[in-house]
Amino acid sequence: MVKTSVTLSGLTLDNPVIPASGTFGYGYEFAELYDINILGSFSFKGTTQQPRFGNPTPRIAECTGGLINSVGLQNPGIEKVIAEELPRMAKCFHKPVIANISGFSVEEYVHNCALIDTQPQVGIIEVNVSCPNVHHGGMAFGTDPACAAEVTRAVKAVCKKPVYIKLSPNVTDIVSIAKACEEAGADGISLINTLMGMRIDLKTKRPVVANKMGGFSGSAIFPVALRMVYQVYEAVKIPIMGIGGVSSADDVIEMMLAGATAVQVGAANLVEPFACKKIIEDLPRAMEQYGIQSLSDIIGGAHQ
Ligand code: FUM
Repeated sequence: MVKTSVTLSGLTLDNPVIPASGTFGYGYEFAELYDINILGSFSFKGTTQQPRFGNPTPRIAECTGGLINSVGLQNPGIEKVIAEELPRMAKCFHKPVIANISGFSVEEYVHNCALIDTQPQVGIIEVNVSCPNVHHGGMAFGTDPACAAEVTRAVKAVCKKPVYIKLSPNVTDIVSIAKACEEAGADGISLINTLMGMRIDLKTKRPVVANKMGGFSGSAIFPVALRMVYQVYEAVKIPIMGIGGVSSADDVIEMMLAGATAVQVGAANLVEPFACKKIIEDLPRAMEQYGIQSLSDIIGGAHQ
């Protein structure tokens, strides 16, 4: 019998498979399709202080091996998430969830994190300094080591729960940013968010997405994500949640060999709502195929 459990900052997960923020809502649509309690955890939609309608449509463009989104952090705002979404979520998901928190200023990150930190359902706070689809805030905090460290330090000062910083791949040196977050007190790193991309409609000769550009995700970005997880694992001691183009049990194992303790699945949920269920069901078979007894033993195994 193989062992799929992993431990993230003291939180033991039955398996490392976690739907990524923005691809799983608050879980209840998926709970109509299968029992989502088989998941390790899930990260809910990036939450801001104020409710947001998001960017104008169209917000999605199809691409080979993935898609571009420019949702623009559509969400009901932190107060409504706490008052309405978390209680509704508690009816279908009975494990600790990951709260993805966004902001447009350091003060907003602090405000939102302090509020979500009081919620018993929340196991980990994932601070999103990497959304590419808003014109200020978001990614602006995650592309500079000093800014990322400032947000980390400020949020850590008001949180008791583990704080993971979700980083952007749209940088020249991911390692320096991850190290700055670790030095500022981050409990872990989530990486990567989407890669900036665009499509042009050949008939209209205009960008497909109303916001012109958006974040590219899907299986095409897996090698980029894997490379960044590998590089960051060599530079930091805190755990990493590996994200980016994961769509199979083999991808989960590869991401863990690169250095991830847990693995988030994003775009695959949009193409195949049963993606995470299938990955979880396939994991024991894949582990046996590669001679793996316990998943936690292979974290960073490619570095030895
Ligand atoms: O546009 C969005 O809501 C995307 C958010 C993210 O990539 O973090």
